[in-house]
Amino acid sequence: MTESVYRPAENRYQAGMKYRRAGQSGVLLPEISLGLWHNFGDVDTLAGSRRKLHHAFDHGITHFDLANNYGPANGSAEETFGRIMKSSFGPYRDELFISTKAGHDMWPGPYGTWGSRKSLMASIDQSLRRMGLEYVDIFYSHRYDPETPLEETMQAMVDIVRQGKALYVGLSKYPYEAAGRAYQYLRQHDVPCLAYQGRYNLFDQAPARTHILEQARQQGAGFIAFSPLAQGLLTAKYIEGIPQNSRMARGAFLKPEALTPEVRARIQALNGIALRRGQTLAEMALAWLLKDGQVTSVIIGASSTEQMDDNLKALRNTDFCEEELNEIDKVLSGQACE
Ligand SMILES: NC(=O)c1ccc[n+]([C@@H]2O[C@H](COP(=O)([O-])OP(=O)(O)OC[C@H]3O[C@@H](n4cnc5c(N)ncnc54)[C@H](OP(=O)(O)O)[C@@H]3O)[C@@H](O)[C@H]2O)c1
Repeated sequence: MTESVYRPAENRYQAGMKYRRAGQSGVLLPEISLGLWHNFGDVDTLAGSRRKLHHAFDHGITHFDLANNYGPANGSAEETFGRIMKSSFGPYRDELFISTKAGHDMWPGPYGTWGSRKSLMASIDQSLRRMGLEYVDIFYSHRYDPETPLEETMQAMVDIVRQGKALYVGLSKYPYEAAGRAYQYLRQHDVPCLAYQGRYNLFDQAPARTHILEQARQQGAGFIAFSPLAQGLLTAKYIEGIPQNSRMARGAFLKPEALTPEVRARIQALNGIALRRGQTLAEMALAWLLKDGQVTSVIIGASSTEQMDDNLKALRNTDFCEEELNEIDKVLSGQACE
């Protein structure tokens, strides 16, 4: 059977997506971005991946977040994305903002991991080949490498931009002090950091607590929140137990041990607040991150287009009254769960 030519929805920029400026840059990112950590590897069907990617773009999601090691297997999410670039997204390259990263274990031996120049230079070339791209929009150092001089990692990122292989650079999961030095190095070399990517959700508010959020703002960088639904915990799916085919049932990255009675009580209580707001828990959890200007974009994962639709509805109401915020705080501090 021949595949029909993909034509993106004509109303994709009027479908409800809003765009926020990444720090003090010229770049606007969608409030909701799509990540390919899970659900796009070679263990997933190409047809399903294609459906989700088309659905996202049709709804104004222009930012797709990848890394060299996303899959499984390592590299296979980039290969999947490359296939979609070739078959359907190619003509729309200038409407897409594509990121990749290097720094976690990717290939065997001493050069396939962490932050040496050797590793980063090889990794970006591999990523571009797998995705069939001439350049990525943002290249991240995926994690801070305490053993490699920070200047070496940062200079490699600067050179990757100078070589035209990335338009911008970003930092992922850097601790506060190292992030401060990295921001400074990049700015001094005329490649200011576009965005900091960190885990941020109702259950994990470390970026606010450790001042990483505030630091990004002061440095003129955007803040991009990953795992905004705590890998699915912040949805109604685990209230009645662990559904088959859920990330927790697969158990590799989200372990059943995470679903303690306390966590379940909190999910239940948060779900009650969400319902009173007329939202699902997933919608409320995303809306909470977007309630003020601190977060540029939230990167969701989605194993179906239905989940994506649920998540996109978050944008309809990102306002919270004082009382709702107090109620949420009470739940999170354990005061409001039976
Ligand atoms: N920089 C880094 O180090 C780093 C680390 C982690 C992630 N990230 C980026 O962030 C992206 C998102 O991370 P994440 O996948 O952990 O995000 P998440 O949005 O917190 O979790 C996504 C998972 O939650 C479940 N889910 C999503 N929407 C749902 C809904 N409406 N109802 C019920 N279940 C729902 C799905 O899992 P199931 O259906 O399979 O249960 C889905 O795959 C990644 O793809 C990656 O791009 C970056």
